[in-house]
Amino acid sequence: KTLDVDPDAYDAGEHESFMHKEILEQPAAAERVMRGRLNDRFATGHLGGLNLDARELRAIRRVKVLGCGSAYYVGEMGATLIEELARIPASAEAASEFRYRNPIIEPDTLYVAVSQSGETIDTLLAVQEIRRKGGRVIGLVNVVGSAIAREVDGGIYLHAGPEVAVASTKALTNMFLGFAMLALQLGRVRDLSIADGRRLIAGLNALPGKIEQVLATEERLEAIAERLAAAESLFFVGRVRGFPVAREGAQKFKEISYRHAEAYQTSELKHGPLALISPAVPTVAIVPDDELVERNVAALHEIAARGGPLVVVTHDDVELQGLDAERVVVPRTERELDPILLTIPLQLLAYHAAKHLGHDIDKPRNLAKSVTVE
Ligand code: G6P
Repeated sequence: KTLDVDPDAYDAGEHESFMHKEILEQPAAAERVMRGRLNDRFATGHLGGLNLDARELRAIRRVKVLGCGSAYYVGEMGATLIEELARIPASAEAASEFRYRNPIIEPDTLYVAVSQSGETIDTLLAVQEIRRKGGRVIGLVNVVGSAIAREVDGGIYLHAGPEVAVASTKALTNMFLGFAMLALQLGRVRDLSIADGRRLIAGLNALPGKIEQVLATEERLEAIAERLAAAESLFFVGRVRGFPVAREGAQKFKEISYRHAEAYQTSELKHGPLALISPAVPTVAIVPDDELVERNVAALHEIAARGGPLVVVTHDDVELQGLDAERVVVPRTERELDPILLTIPLQLLAYHAAKHLGHDIDKPRNLAKSVTVE
């Protein structure tokens, strides 16, 4: 069984689709999820719904994130943020796989269930399995009062508003911001300095405006998307912070454009997929200006040398060393927060590719908004 949101019950207004409406709602939705949840004085997150006091937050020795589809990929971004800011080992896993391997549930691990609908059966059953074994689970959930929200020990509501399109956009952005605030709070009861806390809070507060700036580049993204839509197969590549962005970008592209899109670590291209690169197979590369930028650019030259068309999602002043590529620009933010700004243009690329191909964007074939039976 699946749970389909009935688009007729909602109003897309002047928008051509719910997905487009929801993409444009992201700056406002981002502001909502952060409202009242950032504490300037102590430079920390203020997440009342966690039901964890400072002593309990400090006792956490590991974080395990569970979700399905886009919620799983943003979970990978979140795990990276938690490792960076709080220096707690953190990882994400598809909830659909987790509970089938008789998972070891540890008392000092914080489990985080991520779900827009709060009804995805694989995620719900994982939550129940963890709690049955005595583990502590918090939720990052959008729909208030949903099954997962009722089952967890505490959590963060995402306040994205109703999301109708099957492909998640604004809920996913708010999931990332939820993780950022959680990572900040976990970090600030450990060794994250007040200066770093302030730096991140300033970065978070500036994000809605920067998301707006990315949305303003839509026309250019539309032109690029039309070219990408002509390819039968594409790669999305990134490293470390950029890799979950590539995974999410490939997921969006394939679910609504029905083109084969595969995510790969840029560093692993030379160990296999480089054999597939040709003028017929474009690559969308995620290249934030981080410690890996030079290596990333060098790997992209390997693609260009084999005639592979390139779209590089990066900042305006990153040196591409004469690379033959289309540059898609996102504003700079704090490095830890780069993934969310890098994700936004990929939503618009997928959207315009699907539109150009004439597909039903809000209800792609074979997919449901949430999958509520196994
Ligand atoms: C379905 C949708 C995906 C979504 C996933 C998780 O598979 O097609 O787009 O990411 O469910 O949904 P959730 O409501 O748990 O976030």
